[in-house]
Amino acid sequence: MNHKSKIGAILSLILFCSVLTKAENNSKATLEKKRIEQRVDSVMRLMTLEEKIGQLNQLSSSEKTGPELSKSNNMDYVRKGLCGSMLNVVGAEMTRKAQEIAVNESRLHIPLLFGYDVIHGFKTIFPVPLAETASWDMNLIEKSARIAAIETSASGVHWTFAPMVDISRDARWGRIMEGAGEDPYLGSLVAAARVRGFQEQLNNNTDILACAKHFVAYGAAIGGRDYNSTDISERTLYETYLPPFKAAVDAGAATIMSAFQDLNGIPASGNEFTLRKILKHDWNFKGFVVSDWGSVGELINHGVAKDRKEAAKMGLNSGVDMEMCSLTYVDELAQLIREGLVKKELISNACRRILRMKFKLGLFDDPYKYCDTEREKNLIFTPQNRQASLEIARKSIVLLKNENHILPLDKNLKSIALIGPLADAKPEMIGQWPGKGEEDKAVTLFAGLKSHLPENTKLVYAKGCQIDDENESLFDEAIQTAKNADLVILALGEGKMMSGENTSRSNLELPGVQLDLAKAIIKTGKPVVVILTNGRPLAISWLNSHAGAIVEGWILGTEAGNALADVLVGNINPSGKLPVSFPVVTGQVPVYYNYKSTGRPYVPNEQWVTKYIDCPNDALFPFGFGLSYTSFTYSDIKLSDSKLQPNGEIIASVDVTNSGSIDGEDVVQFYIHDMVAQTTRPVKELKDFKKIRLSAGETKQVVFTIKPDELRYYDANMNFIAEPGDFKIFIGTNSRDCKEAIFSLEK
Ligand code: BGC
Repeated sequence: MNHKSKIGAILSLILFCSVLTKAENNSKATLEKKRIEQRVDSVMRLMTLEEKIGQLNQLSSSEKTGPELSKSNNMDYVRKGLCGSMLNVVGAEMTRKAQEIAVNESRLHIPLLFGYDVIHGFKTIFPVPLAETASWDMNLIEKSARIAAIETSASGVHWTFAPMVDISRDARWGRIMEGAGEDPYLGSLVAAARVRGFQEQLNNNTDILACAKHFVAYGAAIGGRDYNSTDISERTLYETYLPPFKAAVDAGAATIMSAFQDLNGIPASGNEFTLRKILKHDWNFKGFVVSDWGSVGELINHGVAKDRKEAAKMGLNSGVDMEMCSLTYVDELAQLIREGLVKKELISNACRRILRMKFKLGLFDDPYKYCDTEREKNLIFTPQNRQASLEIARKSIVLLKNENHILPLDKNLKSIALIGPLADAKPEMIGQWPGKGEEDKAVTLFAGLKSHLPENTKLVYAKGCQIDDENESLFDEAIQTAKNADLVILALGEGKMMSGENTSRSNLELPGVQLDLAKAIIKTGKPVVVILTNGRPLAISWLNSHAGAIVEGWILGTEAGNALADVLVGNINPSGKLPVSFPVVTGQVPVYYNYKSTGRPYVPNEQWVTKYIDCPNDALFPFGFGLSYTSFTYSDIKLSDSKLQPNGEIIASVDVTNSGSIDGEDVVQFYIHDMVAQTTRPVKELKDFKKIRLSAGETKQVVFTIKPDELRYYDANMNFIAEPGDFKIFIGTNSRDCKEAIFSLEK
């Protein structure tokens, strides 16, 4: 055999073996599925109707994350086999105690499932999800979810109510902080990465169930007011709000949470169209649906159910398998069955879905699998986990402005004044949904700077004002501190309870007198660097015109101060890109990059075009925006062909050069616009991106493959098709500054 054919033979053998292993794995998985179904059957055969309904009932510990809905002793439900899951029971010991009651005292010994909101870390707190998305780094995002899963599982909990995959185009809505921003494509990648990180194979005791929430369109709340109605077209639902959920389901998300709000008149937790048709039928979702806190009971407040009985019937019929906290199922379903008003098989089906997950997690084999105090001691808040949090926090930071290279800080500065209510505020680094994170352990900007600045630089701190102060009594001291320094770092932004659930704001400016403080400090004439701490886009036009530099520091978690200091002193060259547009003024909201073409597109100085008379249409900082300490130049786009055949592909490429003097990373973004279609199309849609690292002076070719599949959209009849015709493509460093080219999809 000659050399070539030897290699050929080896390659075929490797291929053959990998086909075999794949086939083996597939058949193992099928066998395991079958085994689980048999075991579910065997338990179901023993269950009374009431016990089946009991599995659909989820109750909370006394640590409430919503309004009090029951006065009864929840453990009595557990004893009677009338509770399948508990939320907010956390800790190896506490979960063991509750599990012992379920396993030893209930008739069928069915273990409980413990759920908890692990939104951005359990004890090691990571950047909030919006911030993590700014890294555009799916490996890091997956890693952060994985570490959260390891810590959560070591504390007895089987299930996180995350990821929140709601798209939001409205920064007034405080929960924008919990999601991945405004774009369905980026949001879908993040949703899948986080599901993978939480669940892995769901086959060992570090894996936890994920829950993609809140199904669906919760982020489209009218006026950005939390829990408010949503009213969007079916097209917008399919194009913008559903994709991240579909991505989560495709990644294997075990559970989905139905939302609070009504969608086009039908409450999401009683919505057969979204839950039964789209999720369970069209997408073939095999996990279970849990309601949001009390959202089945709230069908009465919505005015679509006259009483708890109707609410229970509506919730179950629509496809909500487990009811969180409002107890209408456990109180009403048995009677509804007796009266023939609800089909028994709906209850069996829901119960099956829940039991299946308990079997998958191995809880019937070992109900205490996750309750291990040793693991709890050893796996939580480890130095490695903190290091990972630091790593992703660094990558989440977005440099918004850097006039005259004021950053990184000059090593020869004699003194820096650190001013502002967010400069030394530990709790604010952790944010809302802190899990079991300890505020005390968080590193503030003040602490981070102290350990990062050269010895010859003096750091002096003055608070200047409280986060939402109405008076200026601390201004004088701050102004004096600024005057005595070579440079000022102003730490401004929102407090931890200003983003997250039920934190809608009507005004996206800095809270309280912070802007006045900034004005007073900038008036001293000292160079000013602004560091923002916030969970949503803010309206910061004035700062943008007057501060020397602006760093978007979001809410970065346990290691916030170290990550920020790394960027300020130049240990790290910032590479984050905004996952959401920042408005010029609040009144521009909703402002987003992928708006539709209008009949009167904007042209400067024209009268009869779509515009405001008092502010621009465009965002202050567009989606995908973020600077670096170096600069990148883009060549024109090269297309391998200007015609794309129906089964073919073409390649678009650009040469990106690091034209500055230090190494850096850029996110090369690829957008598309369908120039003529049956329906109005977004002016740009993100379809792909590549995060690249370039040494100073280096050039890399960045390549995107375009296939007809990516050009599909919902036509006038809601068919998802790619239509022949012209398409514009854009490649650039953000959604605004792009190179363009045109190709056509052939018939
Ligand atoms: C929130 C959910 C959360 C649930 C349980 C609700 O108020 O909307 O996102 O998972 O509480 O804590």
